[in-house]
Amino acid sequence: MKKIIFATCAAIVAFVGITLTTDAQAAEKNPAIVHRQGTYEVVAGHMGSLKAILFLGGEGDMAYHAEAIKAAWEHMGKAYPAGSDVGETRAKPEIWQNMPDFQEKGKAAYGATVELVTAAQSGDKGATTEAFKKLGGACKACHKEYRKK
Ligand code: HEC
Repeated sequence: MKKIIFATCAAIVAFVGITLTTDAQAAEKNPAIVHRQGTYEVVAGHMGSLKAILFLGGEGDMAYHAEAIKAAWEHMGKAYPAGSDVGETRAKPEIWQNMPDFQEKGKAAYGATVELVTAAQSGDKGATTEAFKKLGGACKACHKEYRKK
């Protein structure tokens, strides 16, 4: 009987797993954490849409998505204030220990986004693909050092 209950629980966990991030955010009350995670989700959503256009033969407005990423970064605000290292967050403590380096990584991502906007506005898919990859690299470079798995 215990085994059956366990199997049922595992199945439920697997089923609701996809909403876990949202649940974690709902439990989190620190506005800085909730705001930055929500904004990263917006950026990631537009990256996904661009991926569809650039790599999967999808239809869409490249400039819109690129500009939306830029706008999201510009609305990040003070995303890592003191005290926002505690809670439902994957931000590593190293961020606050190496703030200038962390900010450099943020600037690199913003710079790559500006290039992405220029390329996307020109309508040149090749150039937009290159800029997209560069931005993807900037996301990864920061996550590798400053985001928990
Ligand atoms: C300067 C560092 C930095 C850059 C650049 C960066 N991120 Fe992140 N990202 C983080 C950190 C730190 C977290 C964890 C935030 C938290 O949990 O409080 C995170 C979290 C996320 C999350 C999870 C949000 C959630 O719901 O918990 C996504 C998705 C994400 N980033 C996507 C991206 C994408 C896409 C890019 C590039 C276009 C990017 N990030 C660039 C540092 C960065």
